[in-house]
Amino acid sequence: MIKQREQWGSKLGFILAAAGSAVGLGNIWKFPYLVGENGGAAFIILYLICVLLVGLPAVMAEILIGRTTQKNPVGCFRELSKKNPFWMGVGLLGIITGFIILSYYNVIAGWSLGYIIESVKGSFHNMENPEIAGELFFQNSTNFKWVLPLHAGFMFFTIAIIYSGVNKGIEKASKFLMPALLLFIFILVVRGITLDGAQKGIDYLLKADFSSVTAKTVSLALGQAFFSLSLGMGALLTYGSYMSKKDNIITSSVSIVALDTLIAIFAGFMIFPALFALQMQPDQGPALIFNILPVMFNSIPGGYFFRILFFILLSVAALTSTISLLEVITAYVVDEFKIPRKKATILLGVIVFLIGIPNALSFGVMQDFTIFGKTFFNLFDYIASNIFLPLGGLCITIFVGWFWKKQDVVDNITEGSKGISPIIINIWFYLVKFIVPVLIFLIFLTSLGIITI
Ligand code: PFF
Repeated sequence: MIKQREQWGSKLGFILAAAGSAVGLGNIWKFPYLVGENGGAAFIILYLICVLLVGLPAVMAEILIGRTTQKNPVGCFRELSKKNPFWMGVGLLGIITGFIILSYYNVIAGWSLGYIIESVKGSFHNMENPEIAGELFFQNSTNFKWVLPLHAGFMFFTIAIIYSGVNKGIEKASKFLMPALLLFIFILVVRGITLDGAQKGIDYLLKADFSSVTAKTVSLALGQAFFSLSLGMGALLTYGSYMSKKDNIITSSVSIVALDTLIAIFAGFMIFPALFALQMQPDQGPALIFNILPVMFNSIPGGYFFRILFFILLSVAALTSTISLLEVITAYVVDEFKIPRKKATILLGVIVFLIGIPNALSFGVMQDFTIFGKTFFNLFDYIASNIFLPLGGLCITIFVGWFWKKQDVVDNITEGSKGISPIIINIWFYLVKFIVPVLIFLIFLTSLGIITI
């Protein structure tokens, strides 16, 4: 008996799940430090342009492929390309990228879980400066007895949700976790902007200084838009495959992109006003979250409580992303190899956990074990973010713009989107055909160092 493919229970369920995939460590950890290092509001403006010009059209293209075929990334391309091995390879590249990203993303997600525990224990209580927090971070991240159980624990939560399926797992969890996440962010933003001296941070986020913007900044903004929107590896394509043909792809995509972007900007408003109020520097790079913030909360009334809330927020954001990564590979194995979902989920979760062990140990015992001069963690991140994601995104948009019959593309996107002007659909189509691939190609070359600007 062939089991009917699951579908989202509602349009809202789909939007929350897809926004959950998009909102993650990229928004709360990476976006604020990129803003801090690249000129504040100027970077935000560039980011918004990239999101509108590249992100939104590409999100629509991925969801469209998934919804049209109702299959996993390989199955989608098999159907649409009439079994062309190149395009099926593009689908497979997405699955491999999912494996790679999940295997290191889950490690950082595990740290955020560990920092909830550290916060509850009051480990930061007497810390006066970020250097001391840095020492704790160093001790923890190099200690396999700290890192591995957290890596396993986070994978356990991810498996538990995917195990229950699309409706009872992903949709139910997203409907609970996403509103909670919005509430926590709201509380932390209000706390940040009402501190004495917060105005300087707000100014930093609102006043654009374009003097420090270079072509490299543009490429950083575009790369971040891509990672943040979960583009290029079939996550949105897989979520789109559970979408009803009655639902509107265009308005859903706008909501997903708007939520992702708003949460990234809110993360800035949560962090910078407090940072400036306490006279700390904004351009601290990746250390911002684990070294500077925990200490910053010491000087804030109610800091103990807000610090715990912050790390819960970070963990929730990461969880709604790890589930989408595990779902991509699970959907593939369930569809293609006819393995029951529950079995596939556990099997794949354990495999990803094992592949992730060298990543988890990259900061400690395996620090000196390098390939091409990079630790496992850095190598995996580099391959996925700088090569596979842009390559996947490039191929997916080229497929929609050049290899899928235009009339079919238009008919499929219009289904469920009645009332949307054909002009908008045409603008979208030509962005996907020309602008998006060219811009992705340029970031691809820049991030590989083939062109330097
Ligand atoms: N969008 C996630 C973030 O910003 O943290 C990361 C991510 C999740 C990338 C899922 C790709 C993906 F398929």
